[in-house]
Amino acid sequence: MPVGTPVTIYRKDYIAPGFWVDTVEMGFDLHPQRTHVATRITMRRNHDSAEKDLVLFGEDIKLLQLRMNGVNLKKSAYTLSKERLVISNAPDQVTLEIETAIAADKNTTMSGLYVSNGNFFTQCEAEGFRKITYFPDRPDVMASYTVMLRGDKKLYPVLLSNGNLVEQGDLGDGRHYAKWEDPFKKPSYLFALVAGKLVCQEEKYKLKSGRKVLLQVWVEEGNLDKTQHAMDSLKNSIRWDEERFGLELDLDRFMIVATSDFNMGAMENKGLNIFNTKYVLANSRVATDTDYAGIESVVGHEYFHNWTGNRVTCRDWFQLSLKEGLTVFRDQEFSGDLVGNETGRAVKRIEDVRVLRQLQFPEDAGPMAHPVRPDSFVEINNFYTVTVYEKGSEVVRMYYTLLGHDGFRKGMDLYFQRHDGQAVTCDDFRAAMADANGRDLKQFERWYSQAGTPRVKAQANYDAAAKTYTLTLSQTCPKTAGQVKKLPFHIPVALGLIDAEGNDVALQLQGDSASSTTKVLELKEAQQSFVFANIDREVTPSILRNFSAPVILEFEYSDEQLAHLLAHDNDPFCRWEAGQRLAMRRLLKLVNSVQQGESLRLDDLFINALRKTLNDQSLDPAFRELVLTLPSEIMIAEEMAIADPQSIHAARQFVRATLAQHLKADLLQAYQDNLTPGKYSPDALSAGKRALKNCALAYLVEWPDTATYALAHTQYQEAENMTDRIAALNAMLHCSSALDKAHSKTRKQVLAHFYQEFESEALVIDKWFTLQATAPTADVEQVRVLMQHKAFSMSNPNRARSLIFAFCNANPARFHAADGSGYSLWADCVVALNKLNPQVAARLARSMDRWTKYPKANQALMKAALQKVAATKNLSKDVLEVITKALA
Ligand code: PHE
Ligand code: ZN
Repeated sequence: MPVGTPVTIYRKDYIAPGFWVDTVEMGFDLHPQRTHVATRITMRRNHDSAEKDLVLFGEDIKLLQLRMNGVNLKKSAYTLSKERLVISNAPDQVTLEIETAIAADKNTTMSGLYVSNGNFFTQCEAEGFRKITYFPDRPDVMASYTVMLRGDKKLYPVLLSNGNLVEQGDLGDGRHYAKWEDPFKKPSYLFALVAGKLVCQEEKYKLKSGRKVLLQVWVEEGNLDKTQHAMDSLKNSIRWDEERFGLELDLDRFMIVATSDFNMGAMENKGLNIFNTKYVLANSRVATDTDYAGIESVVGHEYFHNWTGNRVTCRDWFQLSLKEGLTVFRDQEFSGDLVGNETGRAVKRIEDVRVLRQLQFPEDAGPMAHPVRPDSFVEINNFYTVTVYEKGSEVVRMYYTLLGHDGFRKGMDLYFQRHDGQAVTCDDFRAAMADANGRDLKQFERWYSQAGTPRVKAQANYDAAAKTYTLTLSQTCPKTAGQVKKLPFHIPVALGLIDAEGNDVALQLQGDSASSTTKVLELKEAQQSFVFANIDREVTPSILRNFSAPVILEFEYSDEQLAHLLAHDNDPFCRWEAGQRLAMRRLLKLVNSVQQGESLRLDDLFINALRKTLNDQSLDPAFRELVLTLPSEIMIAEEMAIADPQSIHAARQFVRATLAQHLKADLLQAYQDNLTPGKYSPDALSAGKRALKNCALAYLVEWPDTATYALAHTQYQEAENMTDRIAALNAMLHCSSALDKAHSKTRKQVLAHFYQEFESEALVIDKWFTLQATAPTADVEQVRVLMQHKAFSMSNPNRARSLIFAFCNANPARFHAADGSGYSLWADCVVALNKLNPQVAARLARSMDRWTKYPKANQALMKAALQKVAATKNLSKDVLEVITKALA
């Protein structure tokens, strides 16, 4: 194999570790240039394993000492390669003493031990622990950890690790120490330490059992006015897991630490969660309603991992969705439950489905498509995907739909009863669900093994004489990389039938006495018919209620049927979906008209259907806002054989402007009706009102007159919270009229003002970059100018995402400029990031996933850009895997 050829790792090659680890003791002498780590590991042979050698992994660290059972090991006693240290013929009982040195200050990858703003952090998932010491760094090796931290008292007054603080004191020489003990066995990827200048908000919290625990949120000095929401979210999470799943916090202390340098959202290290500041810091001045909701769900997510991920973990990384799919499901349910009413829950559901369609459906149709439980990977970091997370959550939700609320709980209880303290597989989870409910879920396994989004086609036939309604469902699944033939899935299809008055009809399957207004049909064959008896009037089917399965549903609805569903469906998801279908149909036609140079028009049925929803006071503002929001440009592109970003943009903007023109009075009214004066509160009702109001504002400026533009400007100036402020700015910068000269001076002024006002708030400056990168006026040249701005930095992931990712992923009409300048920018940035942070680089590399979907001329330019990156020297395996798959 030539040097540099990436190695593919296969799920089928799993072998149990040759040695188990019982205890790990670590001593850290913290120093940015050279942290010294002394580790003592007690191990014992696993006689059941086919692996006879003692295998340790290590990466980018200096090995200073290696002792086995008290004896220094000579170089000849082991083999050391770039990634492994292998000891052959080790005895059955082994105590290893290892000393390593780490240059944390040079570590720009944000994996392993690194320095951020002078403070130390670790990130060990998935394979970062091996950058700290040599270790069997695999999730099925679970051990008890004791950690001693030593460091300069002034530079690192705070010393944190997993579990309980058992000792601390002074070392005399200007340094001090803290000793931490984690009472629970854990895999190495859950190890963490934090050291530095930090302050915390803390609180004693009483669990349901009466036990008191200490909760802390640690941040940099100056940010204590932004921790309350995270603390509230943490307390809500603790209570929710007790109530909904009977799961109690098992530690006496639970800590959250925020850092501005983080590759992902957050990390569930045992008792010491480390978070991206984006998912901790909030007050009304700097954070939007969306930010507040994001914090709540990520705090919940990481907390819920304590049971689903930490107490029960993954046997190997192919099983990642075991913890991630399940924990996303749990955080989605948490947020839904917390709203406290049915519409709020439905709004949350719709938002989650939107994310799935916007991000996961394209992934599942592209070159990186993989099953929820992948069969192989080159770099595991590339598989922290929307498929593993969001589709994984949909798979867990299907158990919930099939087994019911109580049945699902029974399955969870059995899962913990069987597997607490173990490292297990997706099959173990499925078995617990099946066994607890006496159900056969064998076919359900295909949701884990087959990639691609299934298509379900529905056909209906009403026999008025026999009073029967027959629904025929058929399923197919497109081929994906390495998977040509697909077998039928076990698909729960929740169905309702609605009569002409909009009422749900009682559903009774022929030969079945049970009757309900929503029926979960189980589609298991390639094609199946379901016959309903006693249907005495014409009905409209409401199919896939609450989005009961992650599939694409095809049914030939008439416009009138869709308008009827939009006006009446009792299932909020299908009601919203009807509006989206009406919109998508028109958008696709209009894209075609744009391409043909035909004149564009929008019909009254659609305009009036939206008007009706907009003015329907019985509907939650949040729900109305969702209906008023058109399918995104990305979603439209996915519906086309060859996507044409500029025509898509033009068609969508035409619909927005036309709606604004026809609904002007209604929109102004909605704007006035949904003001939220008084003290800011991020609760769902207030947030929903702001969402509708700001949606109305964004429409109003699409068909602007001086008054509507002034409305936006005034809102910007007078806004008392970030939600309203940024929404106003967004409306001013993103409307089509921003393309002509009118108001360009005002726009410049507000942008400059915004920067000055929030210069010291990094998360707000991220928003400032994103606003500009996603504006219709943005172009590559402007992005390159912004990259020279003193506030820009490629090495800070949040900042890189705020500008580069935003432009490449969220401004398709501009990114896909005909001259290929967007692609050159992309290539330059992937190469630059590759040197600094391969994980982040590989994420950006994915912006080109769908390159074969664009017009021929674009394809050629995109391919050239991909090839240019592929030809770069010293490409990380992260980037190489993504690029290779895109070009395959
Ligand atoms: N396990 C983290 C989560 O889902 C995500 C993560 C993965 C964070 C890898 C950092 C590194 O909550
Ligand atoms: Zn997670």
